[in-house]
Amino acid sequence: MKKYILFFASALMLTACCTNPKFSGPVYLDPNAPVEERVEDALARMTLEEKVGMTTAQSKFSSRGVPRLGIPEVWHTDGPHGIRPEVLWDEWDQAGWTNDSCTAFPALINLAATWDKEMSLLYGRSIGEEARYRKKDILLGPGINICRTPLNGRNFEYMGEDPYLSGQMVVPYVKGVQENGVAACVKHYAVNNQEFQRTQSNSVVDDRTLYEIYLPAFKAAVLEGNAWAIMGSYNLYNGQFNCHNEKLLCDILKGEWGFDGVVVSDWGGCRVSEEAILNGLDIEMGTWTNGLSGAASDGYRNYHMADPYLKGLREGKYTTKELDDKVRRILRVIFRTSMRPEPNYGRFVCPEHYQAAREISAAGVVLLKNENNVLPLDVPQGGKIVLVGENAVKKMVVGGGSSNLKTAYEINPLEGLQAAYDGVAEVVWERGYVGDVGRSYNNVDTGQDLTDNRTPNQLIAAAVNAAKDADYVIFVGGLNKSDHQDSEGADRFNTFLPYDQQDVIEALAEVAEKFVVVNISGSPVSMPWADKADAIVQGWYGGTETGNALADVLTGKVNPSGRLPFSIPFKYEDGPIKTERQYPGIKEEGDEFWQTHYDEGIYVGYRWYDSKEVPVQFPFGHGLSYTSFEYSNAKAAKPYMKADGTLKVSVDVANTGDCDGAEIVQLYIADTEASIDRPSKELKGFEKVYLKAGEKKTVTFEVEVEDLSWFDAENHKWVAEPGEFHALFARSAGDIKADVAFALK
Ligand code: BGC
Repeated sequence: MKKYILFFASALMLTACCTNPKFSGPVYLDPNAPVEERVEDALARMTLEEKVGMTTAQSKFSSRGVPRLGIPEVWHTDGPHGIRPEVLWDEWDQAGWTNDSCTAFPALINLAATWDKEMSLLYGRSIGEEARYRKKDILLGPGINICRTPLNGRNFEYMGEDPYLSGQMVVPYVKGVQENGVAACVKHYAVNNQEFQRTQSNSVVDDRTLYEIYLPAFKAAVLEGNAWAIMGSYNLYNGQFNCHNEKLLCDILKGEWGFDGVVVSDWGGCRVSEEAILNGLDIEMGTWTNGLSGAASDGYRNYHMADPYLKGLREGKYTTKELDDKVRRILRVIFRTSMRPEPNYGRFVCPEHYQAAREISAAGVVLLKNENNVLPLDVPQGGKIVLVGENAVKKMVVGGGSSNLKTAYEINPLEGLQAAYDGVAEVVWERGYVGDVGRSYNNVDTGQDLTDNRTPNQLIAAAVNAAKDADYVIFVGGLNKSDHQDSEGADRFNTFLPYDQQDVIEALAEVAEKFVVVNISGSPVSMPWADKADAIVQGWYGGTETGNALADVLTGKVNPSGRLPFSIPFKYEDGPIKTERQYPGIKEEGDEFWQTHYDEGIYVGYRWYDSKEVPVQFPFGHGLSYTSFEYSNAKAAKPYMKADGTLKVSVDVANTGDCDGAEIVQLYIADTEASIDRPSKELKGFEKVYLKAGEKKTVTFEVEVEDLSWFDAENHKWVAEPGEFHALFARSAGDIKADVAFALK
């Protein structure tokens, strides 16, 4: 009997939690009503003032809700590598909370270097959980502007030089974030490829280049990732600011791609009221006021889309057509995020996120060179490793602009290697050079005092002295997050290593028995010293776990599989940018803006080096492993494909070395019979394949007609011309392993 009652009680409970009691309140509050019904219901209840109110900020990082209706304000946060510390209501400075130190995930260029969509999903899910825990609705990231010039200060926040790679890598990130009920705000839309004069420069780009190079990753984020938010960029395009650019926002984003989410301005990127109202901007953030001084009580009322908009509506200058569209989009985001049916609470600074950060960062470390298999490190018991260079100890999550983070902890490379060799070998550090001793940014302090008053000669002498009897000497240098390096707001002056690091490298190479250079940067650096090092590793800003991740690769715990998301030319001058007109742009007397002419057109990155046959130091897609791979049996399922069909192409890849590893198999397509100028090949597929030593797998790609197409600007359509094409299976843009010809009928 007792058993029977228990069964009955649990059956009742089950019924109670599985049936949906009819919701008796208004539709917009019904979590189970379809989003569009909730939107229409809420909209119908709002006053004009409430509607206009939603389109502008109310603090540095929040925009208004509708308090009367219980519709919450929207909380935005940077992005894209971790959740920014809480800031003061009207200031950039952090507010000094003690519970907002986040997990710093690797910089997006590090993620791109994994060439691994699973890693991107893991990244998105993890950072989305952190955002949700911190009650943020819109995450200001990911950034996907193309690396057009190695000098761009924000390359580290983006995903490299190739639209296909960026597009494939951005989609899982967006999906992962949004699974948590947090909107990903993909930025900075569009043709925003330099920091120099970023708010005063007009990108002059032809349509073919726009559609083939600068838009595809945004299109993928919208159409495949279903991104709920997009951030307009600071610059102009077609002579109009991008936060209210008619062609980019109305015609392409909301028109051609049918985007149904919100367009958020970059902070201070909204510049002209009427354009903002008419040209597709939905939320205006960061217009330059501190929120207090512009008006008696609330400076935000002075924003372009606040009181000026309301006035225009009341005077009949505008109708509510645009306003209702904006408010619908904002409500949609709210119902998808803070008022979504299945709330979760996220999680923050947990072991799972640390592990994710470590895995992603390690998967993106690129082994550029490894003469005589000097890596992985092989250090005898009682041996000695000497690390030289500021980047072996410098905390890197602080600085760089809006991606600046306050992190729970940051393991530097020295600490990572010391932990790996604890009880086995001595790991010591020498400074080598003094770079940036800055320690705080927006009030976030690293707590690290890097002052050193020794002269360059004294520093080099000390490093050389320590290096003499070391089993390994590892130079850890590169760039950092200070101005004119990998940082927002300014570009680099050149591509060389700063602070005379080359002198240190050359001096160490003279004495080191085994010499490894680890370059930590978010952009390509010139490596005229490359032949002095036995091994070269491209490391990145790996966040919280950066030092452990690097150690994992150096020690062989992780077999490197990262690949370059950009080309590393021998020298800057080898690249496609040859004139001031192209970069940084020119400003004629009397002109208001700089004009930056994208004269190189579609020939960006490897498209340039390959097509013009300019040799590079390390090609796009390059990266070595501790094992070796062999490609064989490349074939196409048929010798031709039809315009309305697809074609399967495949190749066998075998691990021919003696340790397990992963290979990034790359597929490039070459159009050999085009009627117009096309790059000699373009990336159209990649897959990460795990292979045990001795194992072989078949990797198959499905070629679609889009992969063969170019953008015909005159007729505004994609065209795939019948004729011969080649499917090139490759380890990098410079290392083609197999070539299969096929025809498009
Ligand atoms: C940056 C954005 C950032 C915003 C808010 C701007 O200066 O360009 O990327 O999301 O500030 O911090």
